[in-house]
Amino acid sequence: MVNEHWDKMTAADYLQFTREWIAECHKALKETGSIYIACSYHNIGEVMIVLKQLDFKINNIITWYKTNAMPNMTRRVFTHATEFVIWAVKGAGWTFNYEKIKEINPEKQKDGAEKQMRDFWELPLVQGKERARGQDGKALHPTQKPEEMLKRIILASSNENDTVLDPFLGSGTTAVVAQRYGRKWIGIEKEKQYIEIAKKRLGI
Ligand SMILES: C[S@@+](CC[C@H](N)C(=O)[O-])C[C@H]1O[C@@H](n2cnc3c(N)ncnc32)[C@H](O)[C@@H]1O
Repeated sequence: MVNEHWDKMTAADYLQFTREWIAECHKALKETGSIYIACSYHNIGEVMIVLKQLDFKINNIITWYKTNAMPNMTRRVFTHATEFVIWAVKGAGWTFNYEKIKEINPEKQKDGAEKQMRDFWELPLVQGKERARGQDGKALHPTQKPEEMLKRIILASSNENDTVLDPFLGSGTTAVVAQRYGRKWIGIEKEKQYIEIAKKRLGI
């Protein structure tokens, strides 16, 4: 919940919306393709139910540990410091660039050798130069994702000249990273002001 108007639906409407957009992605996705869905404890249940109903195979639920998570203002629950990225595929022929992912894994073996990447990613919330900000210094998008997260996803599950679709493009992180690594991309975003941020980040 980020309290934007696109993030306020009844539970029933949210489940229906989730079903509809994931079904559209299922239609658009190649048999060998992958879908990655970023979610939080608010909606991971609905997303998992829909993926299973559509016969997707769940490969991983990646935990994003936000190393600089905000403190909890209510003081009545544990501080939320995690989000999730569900990786699902249609069948057995998915792409996983194992060697590349080992190479870019910042975690190393004790002797400095490359190590398999785990499904637990420690990444700070986007800040500093990477964060898109207005003249007043305020963040322009409430949920801008770390480029490092998209780098891992895109390098793991696609190859150069493949097409990456993000139906909720926001500030454009997926397209920025896809472009950087020679992938084609398609972005869909309903808020004009966010499209403008994405265009600026993409230099278009
Ligand atoms: C969680 S944000 C995506 C953030 C993005 N990953 C980034 O790094 O900036 C979700 C985005 O989806 C957009 N959105 C919500 N409902 C939508 C819809 N039905 N069609 C297109 N975009 C939508 C919102 O405006 C918002 O920018």
